[in-house]
Amino acid sequence: EDLFQVADLMQPIARRQKVSRVLVGAVLGSLFFEASTRTRVSFGAAFCRLGGSVCDTTGFTFSSMAKGESIYDTSRVMSGYVDALVVRHPEQGSVAEFARATHIPVINAGDGPGEHPSQAILDLYTLQREFSRLGKLVDGTHVAMVGDLKYGRTVHSLFRLLALYRGLKFTLVAPPSLEMPSHLIELVARNGHVVEVTPSLENGLRGADVVYATRIQTERLAGETVEGYTPEFQIRKALVDAVCKPDTVLMHPLPRD
Ligand code: ASP
Ligand code: CP
Repeated sequence: EDLFQVADLMQPIARRQKVSRVLVGAVLGSLFFEASTRTRVSFGAAFCRLGGSVCDTTGFTFSSMAKGESIYDTSRVMSGYVDALVVRHPEQGSVAEFARATHIPVINAGDGPGEHPSQAILDLYTLQREFSRLGKLVDGTHVAMVGDLKYGRTVHSLFRLLALYRGLKFTLVAPPSLEMPSHLIELVARNGHVVEVTPSLENGLRGADVVYATRIQTERLAGETVEGYTPEFQIRKALVDAVCKPDTVLMHPLPRD
């Protein structure tokens, strides 16, 4: 929430109504070994708008990882050139491995099916802004999470972040093979929240204050077939009108399928 106050102060800078040069001379290393539009470009744009510069490499082909270089060596070498790293990588736990190899700050921009913490912080910021407009609090709210809850890293991070608040109700709506990992459900339930799991979109969305939809992470399925993910699983206006409230907030980290 302290960060959100800083974010509020920085909005005019993002819109170029004000200028800040707090990062003059600083260099961000941007390493994206998985597809990205928003995260890669927004980290770069933010750094540039604050006067810093960005050195990047995208995909495995154009870094020396294509020659078999380890995460440890890549991280050590990069930290000789740049002041901070932002890393996306297809393996869970890999960004933590980058961080262990260096003393410069390393930001996780997505580690396979693991976590996407910057997305979760941004989602909470968005939600709080919507809620302050609606006069609602995050405490006690009903959040429906929909879609690929097994491989969708944004929901893993958001679920854990929202669990820091009090008395939430979560309905987790996923096809049977793509349910939220049980260790996360147990963690959130231990924090005193109500967690319900259902394959029914209609039941899961009923009465929700927030609907957070996600894409099926097809790039992680490795030959698995997804049963029960039918077109009826789409978030349609008719269904939202029928079972949600007039002020239900609809969210999606994008890209949408
Ligand atoms: N862009 C988000 C991610 O990288 C969500 C998605 O790709 O479905 O996790
Ligand atoms: N939301 C998000 O992470 O988008 P990208 O995958 O395009 O970066």
